[in-house]
Amino acid sequence: MSDFKMTAEDYIKREDKFGAHNYHPLPVVLDRGEGIFVWDTDGKKYYDFLSAYSAVNQGHCHPKIIEALTAQAGKLTLTSRAFYSSVLGEFEEYITRYFGYDKVLPMNTGAEADETAIKLCRKWAYEKKGVTENKAKIIVCDGNFHGRTITIISMSTDPDSYTGFGPYTPGFEVVPYNDTDALETALNDPHVAGFLVEPIQGEAGVYVPDDGYLKKAYDLCKANNVLFIADEVQTGIARTGKMLACDYEGVRPDILILGKAVSGGVFPVSAVLADDDVMLCIKPGEHGSTYGGNPLGCKVAMAALEVIKEENLEDNAMHLGDIFRTELKKIDSDMIELVRGKGLLNAVVIKPKNGKTAWDVCMAMKENGLIAKPTHGHIIRFAPPLVINETQLMEAIEIIKKTFAQFE
Ligand SMILES: Cc1ncc(COP(=O)(O)O)c(C=O)c1O
Repeated sequence: MSDFKMTAEDYIKREDKFGAHNYHPLPVVLDRGEGIFVWDTDGKKYYDFLSAYSAVNQGHCHPKIIEALTAQAGKLTLTSRAFYSSVLGEFEEYITRYFGYDKVLPMNTGAEADETAIKLCRKWAYEKKGVTENKAKIIVCDGNFHGRTITIISMSTDPDSYTGFGPYTPGFEVVPYNDTDALETALNDPHVAGFLVEPIQGEAGVYVPDDGYLKKAYDLCKANNVLFIADEVQTGIARTGKMLACDYEGVRPDILILGKAVSGGVFPVSAVLADDDVMLCIKPGEHGSTYGGNPLGCKVAMAALEVIKEENLEDNAMHLGDIFRTELKKIDSDMIELVRGKGLLNAVVIKPKNGKTAWDVCMAMKENGLIAKPTHGHIIRFAPPLVINETQLMEAIEIIKKTFAQFE
């Protein structure tokens, strides 16, 4: 055993040297997590206000989820879909009943689930709607974020996402977000198969559309025999104060895309849900993934979804989200341009001051014991694990208030 103790700088330098430079992390090296807290390698404790981009809704290392993981890990982890497993059917029954769909197609990451939904939608268009082969179109929104694959960046409007990665996948049309007139015009084309939308645009900076937008968009899709596809990878699983953000408007998507918190940040699990009319368009051999539907992920996901209901995390997110926005709006700082969000998915739009930006605010919050990350340079997303209680939330708000006061 050596006495050598790595410093935070050592950890950061090592990642920098051996890892691709595809992220720009805040300089904090995390080593342990429990509930709403994480600790760095020097033992300093932080409120986690990112929750791994809303994957850790149930809190870090939730005992029930970890127990499910460890129990299954010693029994059977992966069969591939070449064979049946004793767990997959249990998970499929559980999650389809949980969300009220006929069938599920399990994958691993959010991007894979979005890709799955796109394939499913196109297949449905050719088999059921009668769209001419290879002509199907999917309408997407300006400012969307659905992941990082070539097809997904082909529909992105963010130059950081798509520049330098062409040629791009055709078949997408972009309309402005929160604009049903534009959607109505775009739907006036018999080749349109689907409308893919985030109920709140998380990565873009927590853009909340007007009340009624999702319902109107859904109704327009129905009127045009077009599938309404909701990407709830970030907004789903109680994050916004309802199980799904679509629930606010009573919209039941034709295809529902889930990821992240489906497995509570413990193991990558994503899922696409649809009814038979759509899901059975995909036949054996046409889609899949070696790890998709593995027994370990299935057990983890069932435990993670149970926690959401057992601990009443929808109501907690709704209640504490209201308090959070009310308190943040009271902060008297000319760096705060806007506070917006729903449930515990919130953002503050930052106006730079004396050369100090959202990054500087995040650095100062880190020093004060709370970690969050800027998105698009000037927006800070605040999304703690949903297991946070009111006392803890008020303490976290004090840290945020104190931080903004330092810039006055
Ligand atoms: C709405 C949405 N869809 C898809 C994804 C991609 O998920 P993953 O990073 O697991 O591929 C994200 C990730 O942030 C997301 O926010």
